[in-house]
Amino acid sequence: MSERIYLSPPAQTGTEIEAVTRAIASNWIAPLGPEVDAFEAELAAQCGVGHAVATASGTAAIHLALHAIGVKPGDVVVAPSFTFIGTVTPAAFIGAETWFVDSEPGTWNLNPKLLNVALATARSDNHRLGAVIAVDLFGQCADYDQIQEVCDRYGVPLIADAAEAVGATYKGSPAGSFGRAGALSFNGNKIITTSGGGALVSDDEELIVRCRHLATQAREPELHYEHVEVGYNYRMSNVLAALGRAQLSNIEERVGKRRALFARYVEELGDLPGFDFMPEAEYGLPNRWLTTLTIDPDQFGATRSDVIEALAADNVEARPVWKPMHMQPVFALARMFGGEVCERLFANGLCLPSGTDMTEEDIARVVSLVRSVRG
Ligand SMILES: Cc1ncc(COP(=O)(O)O)c(C=O)c1O
Repeated sequence: MSERIYLSPPAQTGTEIEAVTRAIASNWIAPLGPEVDAFEAELAAQCGVGHAVATASGTAAIHLALHAIGVKPGDVVVAPSFTFIGTVTPAAFIGAETWFVDSEPGTWNLNPKLLNVALATARSDNHRLGAVIAVDLFGQCADYDQIQEVCDRYGVPLIADAAEAVGATYKGSPAGSFGRAGALSFNGNKIITTSGGGALVSDDEELIVRCRHLATQAREPELHYEHVEVGYNYRMSNVLAALGRAQLSNIEERVGKRRALFARYVEELGDLPGFDFMPEAEYGLPNRWLTTLTIDPDQFGATRSDVIEALAADNVEARPVWKPMHMQPVFALARMFGGEVCERLFANGLCLPSGTDMTEEDIARVVSLVRSVRG
């Protein structure tokens, strides 16, 4: 059996063991400590904002943000259908209703015009609007100028789900710096990882301080453990923050490598009929967390699933793109605005192995397997 090529495995800088050892040696083996403080400062700097709170996951970061901005049971939270479920489960935790909106074909991200329709419908049907969550899909920022303008029209707060987009930019500003707050993920498959973890970043100090409080069981500053409200246990461990600092230290190099890998795939496979790589919007630089494309089976002569199977037969991991939320049984009753674009992307969309450390040999193997499917 050939050696396995994973979709997006962790890539180490070489300083991780030293960093984790430093944290353990200091005996700060706790969900607070100097590594958490430093990681939060470094994350805020990376995202070009004033403040950050490191969390147990990206999902936790979004949950804290929705809670802190005042989303209540029964509110409507609007999000793109084409995303990973972690974007929207926090709305369900709160008992809010999620409405889904289709993507734009040119960016695969939230369609601002349909967002406007969704918000107008919520307003005319007398729903309270809790939040809009935009997503930077596969590492490409959503069109924040347009989305923010629509949100402002309805006075609804915007949260940026930048879980997949650490290191990407929109009009020169870093992913995570848009809306009221940005959520990051350091899950094992992301461009930097703490095994599991996340962060909420924002220029709004009050919001981050409030989220840090909520993430610490809403514990009041009393020796005897005083609580006036219910919070969560969502802080990141100091040991994992040390790991995160090591990972974050070469983020630019990671982005460069993933973008170069994307360019290589385009060069090696772009001539195949029916192959369309995820477009790059003019407004920014995606981190190309995953290289994604659609395959038109009529033109290519084989389906996306045929390609996944051919790769799997040689121990190479590839996957379909995210299954849209409005097609998920758990959201069968949710409202959806549009849908054709993300349904088509899901029918034909493929994620190719995209690890930061993929070698020339790995790339050649994937390319030749993909080409072989056509015969
Ligand atoms: C778009 C998106 N949102 C949210 C999440 C949730 O992050 P986490 O897995 O850290 O909870 C992820 C990834 O896992 C994601 O890809």
